[in-house]
Amino acid sequence: MHLTDKERAMLDGSDGPAAAKALALLVDIGDFFGAARLIPVHSAHVSGVSYLTGGDGLIEHTAFFADLGAKVAVPTTLNPCGMDRERYKAMAIDEAFAAKQCVILENFGRMGVLTTCSCTPYDFGHIPRKGETVAWAESSAVCFANSYFGAHTNKEDALSALAAALTGRTPEYGFHLDENRVPNVRVEVAATLRDGGDYSLLGDHVGHALKGTSFAYGAIPLFVGPRGCRPHQIKALGAALASHGVHLFHIEGVTPERELYAEARPEHALQVTDADLAALAAKLAPEDEVGLYVLGCPNASFEELAEVADRVQGRKLKPGKELWVFASRPQKALAEAVGFLDTFTKAGIEVFCDTCPEVTPYHRERYPAVLTNSAKAVHYIQAPGLANTPAFFLPLDRAVEAFFEEAQA
Ligand code: F3S
Repeated sequence: MHLTDKERAMLDGSDGPAAAKALALLVDIGDFFGAARLIPVHSAHVSGVSYLTGGDGLIEHTAFFADLGAKVAVPTTLNPCGMDRERYKAMAIDEAFAAKQCVILENFGRMGVLTTCSCTPYDFGHIPRKGETVAWAESSAVCFANSYFGAHTNKEDALSALAAALTGRTPEYGFHLDENRVPNVRVEVAATLRDGGDYSLLGDHVGHALKGTSFAYGAIPLFVGPRGCRPHQIKALGAALASHGVHLFHIEGVTPERELYAEARPEHALQVTDADLAALAAKLAPEDEVGLYVLGCPNASFEELAEVADRVQGRKLKPGKELWVFASRPQKALAEAVGFLDTFTKAGIEVFCDTCPEVTPYHRERYPAVLTNSAKAVHYIQAPGLANTPAFFLPLDRAVEAFFEEAQA
């Protein structure tokens, strides 16, 4: 791979030992993928933050770089950690976990990473432009950045995103090149899509249907049919697809890279009907009563918070039922400013920040199973390396009916 004089000097330590190590990693990745050169990134989003998923190794890894004097070269935001920094006791999280989580966040802070602790950095100002090169980790954020904004990012992991942040560079391969962003699967959507939950089911269904296909940088669906999609619906679709390894999709007439999909003739095609989504919803539905409903995978946007507030206005949770909403701290502040938080408090809803439904350790005796409106969350909450808790799908409207008393007249 061609390196500039500046990059060769960086490899030799001109910008410090941390940048040298980070650049060496990027060169290895670039060589592996056959990249011709490194290219500058405008921003980074780093994952690998929760003590639940990273353990003591994550403390050591972040301390190692921070102690070497690592400093980010570009604006860099951070994925959710394992708890609400201010209200972890309300999540039944113990002091030992909290103390270790705080050390990890301090280490990221020492490197200059903005400890925003959310997977939706675009909801509070970290907005990439069409065609802009960024290095984002967190599969749902990657899928949204590529698809909704038309930004260029590969699906970075915790190490490569941090390396890009510390050097301001990434190898030019994969989704950084237009020829690798052309759709290779056409998806005719004949199903009715009412809310974010339906878009999430659509993504999960298509993700399952694409299993076994083989493309250099994964399947890139072109959806035909959906119209008037709201950003949070596209976010839900992308998160579900991302959980199956899809990191870029297009929606005809909706997403911005028309020049790439207008003339595309994908070889693969599939159709999705109402029956397909109903069958998937039935498969993911709970058989028994579950007491906890979690919402906010990906972290809830202002529009989603408004929808919840509207649905629960004047209602209260039934005894034995809990509803947790996971949102970024800025969205919570907005919700407070417009009165949604007051509505939630009166209804008995908890709003947690800095974390997400998958990377937090549920108190297993109190919460033996979890309900959610996100197909991605259903899969991830059950994963042994994540929350490792049984999880099921229930659309928000049905959850509100099941969990809340009738509104008082
Ligand atoms: Fe975000 Fe956690 Fe879901 S990082 S996309 S809320 S798994």
